[in-house]
Amino acid sequence: MATTSAPLPETAQDTFPINGTDFIEFYVGNARQASLYYRSAFGFELVAYRGPENGTRDRASYLLQQGKVRFVLTTAIRPDLSPDAAYIAEHVHKHGDGVRDLALWVDDAREAYARAIERGAQSVAEPRVLRDDDGEVVIAAIRTYGETIHSLVERRNYRGLFLPGFVPVTPHYQGTPVGLKYVDHCVGNVELGKMNHWVDFYAGVMGFRNLLTFDDKDISTEYSSLMSKVMANGNDRIKFPINEPASGKKKSQIEEYLDFYVGPGVQHMALATDDIVETVSTLRDRGVEFLSIPTSYYDELQGRVGRIDEPVDVLARLGILVDRDPDGYLLQIFTRPVQDRPTVFYEIIQRKGAKSFGKGNFKALFESIEREQALRGNL
Ligand code: FE2
Repeated sequence: MATTSAPLPETAQDTFPINGTDFIEFYVGNARQASLYYRSAFGFELVAYRGPENGTRDRASYLLQQGKVRFVLTTAIRPDLSPDAAYIAEHVHKHGDGVRDLALWVDDAREAYARAIERGAQSVAEPRVLRDDDGEVVIAAIRTYGETIHSLVERRNYRGLFLPGFVPVTPHYQGTPVGLKYVDHCVGNVELGKMNHWVDFYAGVMGFRNLLTFDDKDISTEYSSLMSKVMANGNDRIKFPINEPASGKKKSQIEEYLDFYVGPGVQHMALATDDIVETVSTLRDRGVEFLSIPTSYYDELQGRVGRIDEPVDVLARLGILVDRDPDGYLLQIFTRPVQDRPTVFYEIIQRKGAKSFGKGNFKALFESIEREQALRGNL
């Protein structure tokens, strides 16, 4: 299987420094209920809220946090209250619950925005200053695939919890963390023939480099396949694999996503843990559903990956996958979609040196996805 690491372009250099993922904002149909799901199932803490009770009439947003992972769940209170509320409601109508914003933490939002626009990014929002008693945040936004955006967030002059307008909350029920530490990578699905367009966007506009490429020979099962390129910034804190469908005998899992999300969007977010056995055991106990892997996968595991610290029978019981690369190994598992549409899902990942994305697991993983596609009548 011919996976190639693209040669590092001489010019690969971040257009502007990015310190990490600032937050991920979802537009959802019912943010109050979703916030309870992320607390009770995924162990997030609800730490702040912005809505009608504290001066924002048209929408409600819940800030959930675990480790460095920050999710914002936003819903429209009523579509006719403002153009923004109309847009949020329309987004949910079209896409179902999904990711609107992969927000990036930058040193200087005005500068980052100016450089990005200069290099061809499309503007969503010009830099604006949000202020409260804790200082000011400067925030701008550019668009990426589909209706997804990257907010550029500068918080060097802000001491507050999150963003002006958000009020700290201490809810009656709080989540108990499951050990999620940070966002490892966020994957986008784009239309057939559009992968290289968005690869060029991340290279040309953001100065990212192409870390890895998977072609349809790497990622094909009997029926469906995909192609993928991983784009990363200079410090590797931002990793964005971009997938497009490849032709197979039947419908690619990427096509299924595009049909049901009604266009390109975020397919999955990988959340890192230092103890995947403990994290996944707890998530399962709390009702999170994972893709099932046939027991034959574990018969061949040790021969394929060599010695690992974790007992194979425990991994088999939990359905955790393992892959090795020259730098070490990684453990990973994928949830089923977390809404009724077969769209957004999560990966839980623990890296023990490995810097790759689990290519050795693609076959087992995609066969599992195809079994679920078949059950949905979409294969
Ligand atoms: Fe992934």
